[in-house]
Amino acid sequence: MNGASSGKLNLIISVIGKILPLLIRIAPFLLAAIVLIKIIVAFIPAGQAFLLLKSTDSAAAALTGSAPWIDPVKWLLLIAVLSAVRIGLEAVSEYMSVLLKQRFEYRLEEMLAHKAANIPLILFDQADYYDTLQRAKSNISVRGFRLLELILTIVECLFTLAGYIVLLTQFSWLLIIALIAGTIPTLLVHLKIGEWNFWLQRYQTPYVRRLVYLFELLTQRFAAKELRIYRLAPAFLKEWGDYYWKNAREQRKVDKKSISTRSGIDGWNTVTLLAYSVYVLWVCFSRKLSLGTFVAVSQILSSTQAQMKNVAYSLSQFYEESMIIQEFFTFMDTEEEHKNEDKPAFTGKVQEGISVNNLSFTYPGSTKPALNNISFRINKNETVAIVGENGAGKSTLIHCLIGLHQSYEGSITYDHTDLKDINVASFRNHVSAVFQDYVHYHGSVKENIGFGNVERIDNLAAIEAAAGLSGAAEFIDRLPNSYNTQVGAGFQNAQELSIGQWQKLALGRAYFNDGSIVVLDEPTASLDPTTESELYRQFHQLSEGKVTFLVSHRLGSCRIADRIVVLKQGELVEQGTHDELMKLGGEYKQMYESQAEWYLQEASYKGA
Ligand SMILES: Nc1ncnc2c1ncn2[C@@H]1O[C@H](COP(=O)(O)OP(=O)(O)OP(=O)(O)O)[C@@H](O)[C@H]1O
Ligand SMILES: [Mg+2]
Repeated sequence: MNGASSGKLNLIISVIGKILPLLIRIAPFLLAAIVLIKIIVAFIPAGQAFLLLKSTDSAAAALTGSAPWIDPVKWLLLIAVLSAVRIGLEAVSEYMSVLLKQRFEYRLEEMLAHKAANIPLILFDQADYYDTLQRAKSNISVRGFRLLELILTIVECLFTLAGYIVLLTQFSWLLIIALIAGTIPTLLVHLKIGEWNFWLQRYQTPYVRRLVYLFELLTQRFAAKELRIYRLAPAFLKEWGDYYWKNAREQRKVDKKSISTRSGIDGWNTVTLLAYSVYVLWVCFSRKLSLGTFVAVSQILSSTQAQMKNVAYSLSQFYEESMIIQEFFTFMDTEEEHKNEDKPAFTGKVQEGISVNNLSFTYPGSTKPALNNISFRINKNETVAIVGENGAGKSTLIHCLIGLHQSYEGSITYDHTDLKDINVASFRNHVSAVFQDYVHYHGSVKENIGFGNVERIDNLAAIEAAAGLSGAAEFIDRLPNSYNTQVGAGFQNAQELSIGQWQKLALGRAYFNDGSIVVLDEPTASLDPTTESELYRQFHQLSEGKVTFLVSHRLGSCRIADRIVVLKQGELVEQGTHDELMKLGGEYKQMYESQAEWYLQEASYKGA
């Protein structure tokens, strides 16, 4: 066996080695019953071939008057009984397969979703991740079960063939050897075709993702407005069409090659079948065998060739599917976030303070660090405002501070414990966050706030209190079903909210969670001035007795912070209180004044 085919075999064995234990764990009895039925059914054709021989011979005898006419009828009846048994068993196994399929699909998708929910956040920004995910999830459940079906088909075919071979040993060993040897080219050709298809799919993954993305741009709500105003549809349609035909051209090439190769091999099989049949005729003639033997062996011959072709095709399909399923297992091997389950739990509250020492962070694939050697300290119960221009590194810093990015250099210590030595689940239990890209949960208003702490999601009084603090209560009361109103366009009976209303719900989540570490990344960007002022006026309710990280471009709001950290191109350039930084006359003062200028101009205009 050469290296390439041993590689194929290894892959097939390794995939079977992963899929089978999974199936056995999910439904051992169902699996055993299906396999048993397949094996029983597999021997039926050989039995029928034997009965065919008997019925043909007794029919020949009955026709010459040397046997009663009822004799062949008995044999024919037995053939029919076997067919009925087969139909019954196949129906039972088909239904069992449905049961097994559902459990298997559920398990595979659950594994995939569980994995995706536990991998490091950073992977979500990498193209490779999406390619692997796309490959891993592309019909994973269908494919996974298809593997099982293929195994069962192969097992059934092999047993049927074994039955035929037992019968053929009475006839000619040479025929058996010729039949097996004649199948090898079919097998190799089908394996090759499977390989072509797999490599094409693998190569095309990024282009298929682009195709899907462009189609979404053209058909989904998120781009619908700009598409119309900027009249982008023709450009996107053109790009989509270009990708479509690029992929189609490549697929066509592979299909053309596959079809012609497959036709060639089918031609070869027709020639070999003819050769086998002539040989059978010659053997029957020279050994003076009965007509029944000739009919039965001819039947076995064409059946054997069809079964072998089926095995070859199933094996090649199995190989192709194995290569794809392998991608699923590769994805399942992705290293998960460090959970630090063996580490001590977070105390629940910052008792002394947080120290950030020489913190640096570089996004994978990026040459420039997003954070460079940052050090500062925040005491218990303090609010720190992080300011800086777009892209300065504010959100990245926040993600590091709450352990969402774990691959930073330097250290972040909560009291005297390194963040990397704190049990992650217990730490996250105490973090409330409004991210810059907070989520619009398409569900009820109650859920949108309750997701801040799912354990208390049924505590409507607490949800209402959080909505009151975030400024959401007012609009919620006007909704048709109040807290039970479904929000988010796209689902039946759901109502869309304004962007500011969504932000109020996100703030409600943070209030509802009531963690001792609060992260607010541009929490008021979409709020109206009254709500914003109200929020800052009652800021102490959200931040009292807590450590709060606040990112805001409205520098006026930073005055409520105990400390302001100014970032510029990933570096910490200034830190202090509002007054200290104004006195310093540096970056902060310049930003503050350029923002204040507009208001001052407005005031002087009014005064004039
Ligand atoms: N996922 C990512 N992969 C690579 N680079 C990133 C990623 N996210 C952000 N960056 C880069 O890191 C830098 C800091 O980004 P960050 O989102 O922290 O900025 P920011 O200060 O929050 O900006 P903004 O005010 O616009 O929210 C930017 O130069 C940005 O291009
Ligand atoms: Mg940001």
